[in-house]
Amino acid sequence: MGRVTDFTTTLETIRSALPEKLQKPRVGIICGSGLNGLAEHIKEIVTISYETIPGFGKSTVAGHKSALAFGLFGEGEGVPVVAMLGRFHAYEGHPLSTVVYPVRVMAQLGVTDMIITNAAGSLNPKLPVGTIVVLHDHLALPNLTGMNPLLGPHTNPNHPRFLPVSDAYSPVLRRYAFLAAHHHGIERSALAEGTYAWVSGPTYESPAEGRFLRLIGADVVGMSTVPEVLAAREEGMNVLVFSLVTNFVVIPDTYRSIQDEVEAELLGKQVELPVQEVVCHEEVLAIGKEKAVVMKKLVERVVELIAAE
Ligand code: 6GU
Repeated sequence: MGRVTDFTTTLETIRSALPEKLQKPRVGIICGSGLNGLAEHIKEIVTISYETIPGFGKSTVAGHKSALAFGLFGEGEGVPVVAMLGRFHAYEGHPLSTVVYPVRVMAQLGVTDMIITNAAGSLNPKLPVGTIVVLHDHLALPNLTGMNPLLGPHTNPNHPRFLPVSDAYSPVLRRYAFLAAHHHGIERSALAEGTYAWVSGPTYESPAEGRFLRLIGADVVGMSTVPEVLAAREEGMNVLVFSLVTNFVVIPDTYRSIQDEVEAELLGKQVELPVQEVVCHEEVLAIGKEKAVVMKKLVERVVELIAAE
């Protein structure tokens, strides 16, 4: 589906599918790989398939659903929310304007706070698999090289031409994240803070790239989120991101020397081959499933704290 610059048809399609009380969501939630389970806890849920929404792309990744879910989230009556079950990635071939279009639509619907989840690889030995990382900064390599979702003519007077990102990750919402962890008795080590490196994918990092990202200050790495963060900030929203560490990026200290191995082999010595580690998408999804309950608790409590402001 092509790009839509005027939101009218998109908003009409969405609103016509919703009862009055769900039409003005307060909080937007973007569910990452294996984290769609959150939707099971949304009350009075109405889902709208991306395919039926003008301007939305078609998400194509296994383990990612493709719908907007509207409903009430949290204890008691619940807070009106809209959740993206599945997101659009640049690596699927979507232009970045399509990747961020749902965020802009959420802004039009009245969303003031955005909670984003994703699956990420860890580059920091202090962040083992299963850790949920509350982002406090990012390294957007594509942005530095001309692939920024905000590139283009400045047509909306409500948007700053030059968006600052030094304050992109709301300290208020980050505080809510840790209060939420305390509220649910989640152990201290389960949650951490860190910097996310955004890469385009779809390839995972080579060992040299992993080493490079670590060296320049990234704690986790992934293929999503930053475009949505930038659009949400441009739209004036507060942003919170939970990155779930699903695997550790393979960064060997040394390379095995094939040259030495061949030499030894030629001398008739027995050579024991080391096992070569690789990341796989199934592993990423499995950890997502395992941590879905904790993630849901955190997001739910943060939503409640936002509504209580
Ligand atoms: Cl290791 N790399 C990237 N780029 N994205 C990931 C990941 C790794 N693990 C989960 N998502």
